[in-house]
Amino acid sequence: CGIVGVIGNGIKAGQILGECLRKLEYRGYDSVGVATLSSGKIRVLKGAGKIDEVDARLCFSCLEGDVGIGHTRWATHGPPTDENAHPHTDCRGRVAVVHNGIIENYIELKEELVRRGHSFRSQTDTEVIAHLIEDNLARGHEPYTAFRETVLRLKGSYALAVLISDTPDRIYFARRHSPLVIGVGDKLVFLASDIPAFLEYTRKVIPIHDGELGYASQSTIVIENIKGEAISPEGRVIFVDWTPESARKEGFPHFMLKEIHEQPRVINDTIAGFGRDYEMGAEMLHSGDTIFVTAAGTSYHASMYFALLTAKLTGRKVIPFISSEYESYIHSASSGDVLLAVSQSGETIDTLMALRAFKALGCKVVSLTNVIGSVISRESDQAVYMKAGPEIGVAATKTFTTQLTALTWLALLIAQRGGRLDAEGIKSTRERIKALPDLVEEVIMKYEGWAKGMSRLIAAKSSAYYLSRGLGLPIALEGALKLKEVAYVHAEGYPAGESKHGPIALVERGFPVVFVSVEKSLEKKLLGNIEEMKARGAFTIGIIPQGSELGARLDEKVVIPSRDEVLLPILEIIPLQLLAYYTAVEKGVDPDKPRNLAKTVTVE
Ligand code: G6P
Repeated sequence: CGIVGVIGNGIKAGQILGECLRKLEYRGYDSVGVATLSSGKIRVLKGAGKIDEVDARLCFSCLEGDVGIGHTRWATHGPPTDENAHPHTDCRGRVAVVHNGIIENYIELKEELVRRGHSFRSQTDTEVIAHLIEDNLARGHEPYTAFRETVLRLKGSYALAVLISDTPDRIYFARRHSPLVIGVGDKLVFLASDIPAFLEYTRKVIPIHDGELGYASQSTIVIENIKGEAISPEGRVIFVDWTPESARKEGFPHFMLKEIHEQPRVINDTIAGFGRDYEMGAEMLHSGDTIFVTAAGTSYHASMYFALLTAKLTGRKVIPFISSEYESYIHSASSGDVLLAVSQSGETIDTLMALRAFKALGCKVVSLTNVIGSVISRESDQAVYMKAGPEIGVAATKTFTTQLTALTWLALLIAQRGGRLDAEGIKSTRERIKALPDLVEEVIMKYEGWAKGMSRLIAAKSSAYYLSRGLGLPIALEGALKLKEVAYVHAEGYPAGESKHGPIALVERGFPVVFVSVEKSLEKKLLGNIEEMKARGAFTIGIIPQGSELGARLDEKVVIPSRDEVLLPILEIIPLQLLAYYTAVEKGVDPDKPRNLAKTVTVE
């Protein structure tokens, strides 16, 4: 999703906003809208659907006004409907808001505003911002103070653009965790989530940093930080020489790399979204007899991890299966069982068919997807969501780590219900999970260079093995899948103990074998497997926790800055994603669009 804003003299803001929003289409969206301000009146046009359809229906360019804001929405709170599309306004139509991000404390703010007589029209978190500004205006604050006071109360992530009818020559803005840039054109000023929105008009850019807010008019740009200290816009100006294509990737050469780098932020958003729906999903899973878990591809690896973790934490029977194999699993299921369906797109037909078969048997179904309103979430009894944002690269990266984060949380909530974890245990694990975004960032920073270097060696090989035991096994399987699908190097993930029952036959001098270690209790056995491979001349690479004894026996090691077994799997896939990406680049193939693969598979 994305936000845009434009202000100029005598321009047709509605038409320009439509053009800018079309440039942001690649970010993925399900609804679209614009608002302009003219003669002291805010006018809004918005609806669910693609820009061309909504524009044809409502006519953005027919809107009067030379100042305006626009939005493409990708649903996170409330389904994609006309009412939930942005811009959102207050009761009196004095304020219009577009927002990218998630307001974590919106329920508490909404309750407060409802008590004060505000009535809400949408199910979004964003609408509270418009009402809160209006509330501050009604208390006699001048517009910028009303905006500022509002921003200070928001928790979560946001890029905001706001119109207030009292000040027809301004767009107010603020940023925290979600991207926001200003474009300075010839007699035109733009605001946008992303540079391609206005690249046709200007290459002069002022990036807005986290925690900053201010307003733009045609002649002035005011920026300040949260403490109220002024920031000089002139000192920030950069001139970009991006092509529209490179700009869409925010300067990254590929979407896959951009999405790998987005992981700290989207894991943070996913954690912020752990609410009542997760509690209800966990309750439903806890109340079933056997828990079945189904998915395809990368989502299957996340599901396998969930099954291993939940069984370990709760002692429950948890059976993961590949969704296209559901006919074999349905025989042993009965109506008292529950199914967890995991699919980033929420559309994979195999997973949908498995879901329908279990429902027909009378089982309750919980789903985890990344797309609100997707068919799998609609057909499940309880839907929960990761908040990874749209993933453009065909190979899943950020949707995998957000799945793992979400599934870890579900497993812990089930353990709590089963009496294996008390409220204190849940609280402290939640605190530990909150450390993830920073640790992911650290792993990317530390090991991107390593992955680039190692990719030269791997690109020259025709095969590789990825071996692990226990909770690390799904990570080994996923690491191998990434290398295979984006870099076309034959790669197999295998339980390390099983590798001597076949795979070891191929190992000769220089054959790369990647070991993934999560559980300390399994390290001794894993060490035995490392020795077996070394004895045959394998080149051994280990992804290992801090303090692991395996390091000394490996040819190459990536030491993850944590020993926390709850966090390690999520951190350990990062260097393997980077290795696959750089191997594809080294081989000169496009990691974003691997041959023969589709992002969403809708045939059985
Ligand atoms: C396709 C994609 C994979 C993905 C799988 C499952 O094969 O190429 O990256 O893991 O579908 O997709 P889902 O949307 O159900 O997670």
